[in-house]
Amino acid sequence: MQKKLLAWYEQNGRHTLPWRNTQNIYHIYLSEVMLQQTQVNRVRDEYYPHFLEKFPTLAILADAKESEILASWSGLGYYSRARNLHATAKICKNKLPQTFEELVALPGIGNYTASAICSFGYHQNIPVIDTNIKRVIKRYFALTNPGEKELTLKATELLNAKEPRAHNLALMDLGSLICLPKKPKCTLCPLESLCQAKEEPELYSQTKKTQYESMELFYGICLKNETIALVKSEGNMYKGMLELPSVEPIEEHFLASFKHSYTKYKLNVQLYYLEECENADFFPLNKLNSTPVSSLVKKALASLKL
Ligand code: ADE
Repeated sequence: MQKKLLAWYEQNGRHTLPWRNTQNIYHIYLSEVMLQQTQVNRVRDEYYPHFLEKFPTLAILADAKESEILASWSGLGYYSRARNLHATAKICKNKLPQTFEELVALPGIGNYTASAICSFGYHQNIPVIDTNIKRVIKRYFALTNPGEKELTLKATELLNAKEPRAHNLALMDLGSLICLPKKPKCTLCPLESLCQAKEEPELYSQTKKTQYESMELFYGICLKNETIALVKSEGNMYKGMLELPSVEPIEEHFLASFKHSYTKYKLNVQLYYLEECENADFFPLNKLNSTPVSSLVKKALASLKL
């Protein structure tokens, strides 16, 4: 199994991804945090290179202002990831620890991220289980509803002690390129002859659907000399980010509305003209790129053609 998998990876793996071509543990750690809820291409082409240009070392990140870090995360969502990255940088400063136990104790680093850093960064012989690898293992062993313990046991059983890093990356790529949730490309799979799910792979793909929640949001648009009123978000969803001030809707002041998806929320956003806004700060409209605002705020301004 290991031989077949590595031979396939050699030929078909995503070897050019930048975080697979560095020894810098901070860069590897950053990539894993970004990749948790964001598509590979967006991370590779936009956020990862820009973030590293701004914060090239863990020590520089530790000394940066939270608002600067959030501004670089602007549009990526799940902003607690950026706040946790900052908290971890402040604790570690120059060097991330080298053991799973120490890593998993840091803010924002869970089992997956800790094991990914140990495997991809330190070449340690430990299993990595993300959603793609989980699906491959479930199918390979025909497990319908395995717990975390069983999955870890099976992943450990498969581990290649000589090439643990390449083995884990190969499983990840097999999951994202071949062993697809809906229509797996079994005829292209190097493990087909060994796979216990080959007759009915759809039995073993995840079925949990995201439960979306609808929400109505009413925001005020208060402009003064090419600046706009923004307030620091206190809520969990956008904590630390700058957002438009909330208002009670007044029909005569209605400006525009739009729909927006964010995490598990389907938001219906309505914008209202606001004459004054006392507890807000005003930010130049042409400098919002260096301001920690979410996609929602950018979309609101675009809808008003500001
Ligand atoms: N290579 C290493 N970690 C990765 C990840 N989380 N997603 C895609 N490619 C990766």
